[in-house]
Amino acid sequence: MEKNTILIIGANGQLGTVLEDELQKLYGRDNVIASDINSNTHFNGIFELLDATDYDAVETIVRKYNITEIYHLAAILSANGEKHPLRTWDLNMTMMLNVFEVSRLNGVEKVFFPSSIAVFGDAVDRENTAQLSYLNPETVYGMSKAAGENWAQYYFLKYDLDIRSLRYPGVIGHQSLPGGGTTDYAVEIYHNAAKNEDFTCFLKDDTVLPMIFMDDAIRATIELMSAPKEKIKLRTSYNIASMSFSPKEITSAIKEVCPNFKVDYKPDFRQDIADGWPKSIDDTAAREDWNWKPKYDLKLMTKTMLEKLNEKYKTQCISE
Ligand code: SER
Repeated sequence: MEKNTILIIGANGQLGTVLEDELQKLYGRDNVIASDINSNTHFNGIFELLDATDYDAVETIVRKYNITEIYHLAAILSANGEKHPLRTWDLNMTMMLNVFEVSRLNGVEKVFFPSSIAVFGDAVDRENTAQLSYLNPETVYGMSKAAGENWAQYYFLKYDLDIRSLRYPGVIGHQSLPGGGTTDYAVEIYHNAAKNEDFTCFLKDDTVLPMIFMDDAIRATIELMSAPKEKIKLRTSYNIASMSFSPKEITSAIKEVCPNFKVDYKPDFRQDIADGWPKSIDDTAAREDWNWKPKYDLKLMTKTMLEKLNEKYKTQCISE
């Protein structure tokens, strides 16, 4: 791999926690700078406290380490965003524009900007939602991501800043917890199952959403970022798909391993958010442009999640 010095912003989050280790393996421990607004005592590497709403603070870190690549993962997610709409818009946009502008002016070559299935609204066909759909998001988080996709393309077209982006489905991993999203139930449910605890789901049992296992999400991110520049034909953001399921279906998959597991349903405000999102998305463009292909399905993900979480909690699923 070429010599890169990488900055991860939002490194303590669900994706950052896993991505920082993978990038260290690829680029070496001293070439990955993890940063977050909160401190991190667990990360074995270089860590900087960083408030990405502060332009000068972002620029200082970029100059200090001669950063060539930024993974900008900090954002307020869909469910938390609806509690504080204006603050969410302000934070998500300010951080993103600071990262793009500091990158442009300080020789950063490549930027990763995560988008989301939340960019879609009721204008799309919810089954196999097309890449080039009309975007009318119904959450502030989704609005900030749709705007961000256009800003990413703008910086590419106007300044040739190589910004690359994925529309993540709900991400499910055993290493870290998501914070304030609508797909979070699909991570929490495995923790309860592994601890032999019942689970109360905040979505209705038949709410189908697109999801992806962490290993696939990280691999997609690294493959997108390592692809030759000319392969990246979409400069807004790529749909990536892996699996789609409802709470009822994930529960059945868990019950194959933990037969005594029980779930009840108390839908809350997050149901409305989920109802506005696709059930599945069409990722043909990602497959064709840079050979994206998922490896995990619901069954394999469930087996892996429960094995890892049983190890973590030193538990065993009780069988009947
Ligand atoms: N997982 C995110 C959320 O639920 C979607 O991008 O907010």
